[in-house]
Formats: sequence, C-alpha cells, structure tokens
Amino acid sequence: DFGLMTYDPAYTNTASCRSSVTFIDGDVGILEYRGYPIEQLAEKSTYLEVAYLLVYGELPTQQQLDWWVNEITLHTFVHENVKEFVGGFRHDAHPMGMLLGAVGALSTFYPDAFDIDDPASREIQTIRLISKMPTLAAFAYRHIQGRPYVYPDNDLAYPDNFLSMMYKMTELKYEPDPRLSRALDILFILHADHEQNCSTSAVRSVGSSQVDPYSAVAAGIAALYGPLHGGANEAVLRMLRRIESVDNIPGFIEGVKAGNERLMGFGHRVYKNYDPRAKIIKSAAEDVFEVTGRNPLLDIALELEKIALEDEYFVQRKLYPNVDFYSGLIYEALGLPVEMFPVMFAIPRTSGWIAQWLEMTQDGEQKIARPRQIYTGDRGRDYVPIASR
Ligand code: SDX
Repeated sequence: DFGLMTYDPAYTNTASCRSSVTFIDGDVGILEYRGYPIEQLAEKSTYLEVAYLLVYGELPTQQQLDWWVNEITLHTFVHENVKEFVGGFRHDAHPMGMLLGAVGALSTFYPDAFDIDDPASREIQTIRLISKMPTLAAFAYRHIQGRPYVYPDNDLAYPDNFLSMMYKMTELKYEPDPRLSRALDILFILHADHEQNCSTSAVRSVGSSQVDPYSAVAAGIAALYGPLHGGANEAVLRMLRRIESVDNIPGFIEGVKAGNERLMGFGHRVYKNYDPRAKIIKSAAEDVFEVTGRNPLLDIALELEKIALEDEYFVQRKLYPNVDFYSGLIYEALGLPVEMFPVMFAIPRTSGWIAQWLEMTQDGEQKIARPRQIYTGDRGRDYVPIASR
C-alpha cells in the first residue's frame, strides 16, 4: 500500500540524507560551509583552504594546510594515456562532455584498487580528484583550441596553475595578474558546495552503490552539464549576447513573461531571496573589469536585474539572480569561451561532491539509494499474440 507515499515533482520535500557539510536558508539567503558564512570565506580564505574545510570539517592549522596544498600540488599530473583519451574527441566537442568522459575513465588509470572501507584509499582518491580536475579541464580547452597541452607547473598556486595550463604559449613562466587569480579563487570558493543540489544528489546516489568516486563524480558532472543547473552560466552569456542592447530588454522580458523562454541565471529551487553568491560575484566582476576593461554585457545584466526585481511576474515567483547570473561575465573577461563555463563550475564543485561522498561513505547507516514511485500504469494484463494486436 503506497497510500502513505506522496509524489513531489521537485524532490524538494523529501530529505535524501543527513549532512553537516553545507547549510542553506533559502528564505533569508544564507549559505554556510561547515558553519562558516560564505561571505567571510570569500573575503578571507582560499579555495584550497575551503576544500580542506569541506573535506575534513574544520579549518586547517598552518601545518595541515601546508600538507594539504603539497598533496594537491603533487597530484596535478594525469597518466600520459589520458592525453590520448582527451585527444580522441572531435575538435568541436563540448568540453563538459570531454570532462565527463575523462573523469569517468580516470578510475581505470590507477593500479591501486579502490577500497571504500579504507580511509587512506578514500583520502588519496579525494586528493587526486581535487588536484586533477583543473588539469583535465585545461587539456579539454587546449584540445578544442588545437593547441599543445601545457603540463601543470607545480611552482604555481592552484588558480594560477590552472590559468597557466589554459593560456601559457611560451617557455616563460605564466604569471597572471594577481587580481584575476584572486577573482578566480573567489569564484572557486563560491561554487565549491551547495547542499543537495541536482549534481550532488547524483554523486550521492551513484556513490551509494559503493562504486569508485571517479565514477560517482562523473555522474555529478553529467547532472551539472544540464542548462537548468551548471549549464546556466553558459546560457546566461548566450542570452545576454542575444539581447545585445538594453533597448531590447523590455521586449525580452515580455517574451519571458509570455513563457517563451526563461531568464537564465534567475530563480532557484531553494533561494527565494537573493543568492548570496550572486552578490559577491557581482562585486568581483567590477574588480576584474578594472584589469580587463568593462564587459559591455554587464550593463545589460545590471539593467535586466533592475527591471526583473521590480516586475510583479518575477517578484510574485520570488525569482532573484542566482550564482550563474554574473559568473559568466567574469569567465568571459578571463578569456574563456562560453563552452568552458560549466567546466569552471565543475572544477570547484569537485571538492563539495567529494566531501559529500566522503560523508556518505562514512555514515554507517547510509544504504544504497533506492527511491520508490507512485505507479500509474496498468496492472495484470494478459499477453496478446502479435496477429491479434
Ligand atoms: C544552479 O540546487 C542548487 O543548489 C543549484 C545551484 C548549485 O549551486 O548547485 O545553486 C546551481 O543550478 C543555479 C540555478 C541555475 N539555473 C538557471 O538559472 C536556469 C533558470 N532558472 C530556472 O529554470 C529555475 O529557476 C530553476 C531550475 C533554477 C528552479 O526551478 P524550480 O524551482 O523548479 O521552479 P519552477 O521551474 O517550478 O518555476 C516556478 C515558476 C514557474 O512559473 P509558473 O509555472 O508558476 O507560472 O517560476 C518560473 C516558472 O516558469 N520560473 C522562471 C524562471 N525560473 C522559474 N521564469 C522565468 N525565468 C526563470 N529563470
């Protein structure tokens, strides 16, 4: 008897797990990692320190942080055959599809069999995934650019190493403007985790079968690829380019209200207030544009936000800018093509995914994910020979 079961099309009212990693209050617009407000972490921390916090639950001492940064740095290289694997994609393959494939294949490149019951095995997989994601992302980018791959430069900090693998074109050490590196590190902090979103739920569900974490994270990448989730930052830039001028905003907004399309980068299943991450990204964008020059699309984004926040359609539905509304403007200013935007989301979200995977694997009560259904089909029908159909 499924009488007690209720169908929730948004999966919102059915808690899928207990977790102490990230807290969100969507009505007020609060986001905390392990109890620390995102605003303080974005201002005072670094992405690798935040990744440590998410994984181990506490801010590291200097000694712990030095060990962690050294471990992450030492594991940035990937097996040489991974280059062949990435090189096998079409020249115009979407980098998110390439990342999905490469991470899924990663588990096959290690001789040490993954042992879910061994804390040391779980820890080395955690380190490998966080450290190798930028390398795989940069390899995908260099592939679609038709350029030779750039190996990690382990003298560089995490964001600088990524930018070096992306953009280095000479033998000289790649030295990005520190303001751009800091803006990228803040974006990584803001995207690191977000409770039980679609991709994290996918990682937990797939991981609950006790498969290796590379396969579970590949499932997360697949979910994040979708335009309603991580693909939204790419969709926002395409939308802003299509609007082209602030003069076209009223007509565009009417089309959204008529249901022709969505205002991408707006709305959220949990935040029914301003996404705290969007506020921080908006101010980080201004810092970046001091270096790169102002992106004219920012004026369209600002005017879109202003008009939408005063329009009953959006106010009534509690639709506010989310994390994806302004982030693409920074990625474009950093020289990234729009196809790379969801990849930029996947790099930092790897630490959230793996922190939640670790929490699940260490929770002795967690069982394999096995949702039920409300059956709406026929019952007890007899087979009909094809001649009689
Ligand atoms: C992320 O879950 C997470 O935490 C995700 C994330 C994370 O860090 O992991 O925060 C990252 O995915 C952010 C969201 C990025 N996606 C987008 O920006 C795409 C555009 N936004 C939406 O499609 C939408 O707002 C969702 C998918 C984000 C949330 O959708 P819901 O909660 O399922 O809301 P809904 O589709 O039921 O919409 C409710 C109403 C509907 O109108 P009515 O049917 O009541 O008339 O609001 C409307 C929708 O049509 N609506 C929008 C809209 N979003 C919802 N209308 C116009 N533009 C929008 N963006």
